[in-house]
Amino acid sequence: MSETARPLVVIVSGPNLDLLGEREPEIYGTETLADHVERASVSAARLGLALEHVQSNHEGDLIEAIHAARGRAAAIVVNAGALTHTSWSLHDALAAFDGIVVELHLSNPAGREPFRHTSVVAPVADGLVAGFGGLGYELAIEAVRRMLDGGRAAPSANRAAGDKD
Ligand code: DQA
Repeated sequence: MSETARPLVVIVSGPNLDLLGEREPEIYGTETLADHVERASVSAARLGLALEHVQSNHEGDLIEAIHAARGRAAAIVVNAGALTHTSWSLHDALAAFDGIVVELHLSNPAGREPFRHTSVVAPVADGLVAGFGGLGYELAIEAVRRMLDGGRAAPSANRAAGDKD
């Protein structure tokens, strides 16, 4: 398969994920974001997918990255950090993306503080990978590959009616 024929996956990483490796290692581990992206790249290459990664601590930059993926990327894997729990702007940007959306977290937010139990990304995601640390990056890429192989094209039946279509 030529490089241009490879479906593109964009990993979007939100605030504070640039500090992985130093930040609360008891929760997020000692691997850096670069380590996780490298792991995802290896999986993507093995599975015939192209990969791009964007990290920003700024909500607007993340929204722009999602806009830039429209019509270009087959999937977005998004770990929005704490914006997961608050950002309706990210929700709306993802709703305007017509490919696969995988919500990703290193930790399992559902088992943590109550403010982490709400995800505003979830209603516009096809699925969620959470709680597996760096392995989650591989699992998310694998999920994208399998959804593409299963003929999944936007919009998804997994999403609540009216939320994204
Ligand atoms: C996180 C979980 C969020 O609640 C938190 O704010 C993060 C990281 C995770 O990957 O586990 O920044 O998204």
